[in-house]
Amino acid sequence: MKCREDEDVAQIIADEKALRLAVKKAARWADKNCGSETVAVCILKGAAFFFCDLLREMTLPVQVEFLSVKSYGDSFKTSGNPRLGDLSFSVEGRNVLIVEDIVDSGYTIQALRTAFGALGAASVKVVALLDKAVCRRVPVQADYACLEVGDEFLVGYGLDYAQRYRTLPYLGVLKPEIYR
Ligand code: IMP
Ligand code: MG
Repeated sequence: MKCREDEDVAQIIADEKALRLAVKKAARWADKNCGSETVAVCILKGAAFFFCDLLREMTLPVQVEFLSVKSYGDSFKTSGNPRLGDLSFSVEGRNVLIVEDIVDSGYTIQALRTAFGALGAASVKVVALLDKAVCRRVPVQADYACLEVGDEFLVGYGLDYAQRYRTLPYLGVLKPEIYR
């Protein structure tokens, strides 16, 4: 069914079926590569939909935590300075699985790996829904990424532009005239 937000999407790059399949594959990877006593950390807000679907697909039991990170404001470009919210849980001695929506410049993942390492995490792994490798500005990568994408602004399945479009069930390219 059409909704008003659909009109701002130029192209669908992954529909619901494709996303389900991609999430299943990521879950198999996580089952195999995460140790026991893993704490899965959802990076809010973008990863929320991916996080819930991924953890339901995994068979490995994990603990669940949430952390808010802001790097964009209402812009479509990163500020280059991600701000981590308050950590309400301990990572000391625990295996951490960071669940992120998209690795773009890499600043967010770099900041998270550094922070969790400094707080004494036993291990830190990153699973991302999307990898925008062409936009990387620091040499970091996810341990697993479901889909590689190009330099386009994407929305839906949790990803927003100025807090809109998150609830679209698919992943699409936002029409450039919306953010230019
Ligand atoms: P990075 O720090 O530049 O790697 O950016 C990571 C964060 O930027 C992601 O967690 C997203 O929240 C946001 N982001 C990057 N690219 C997009 C996009 O195409 N659409 C929506 N959000 C994006
Ligand atoms: Mg994010």
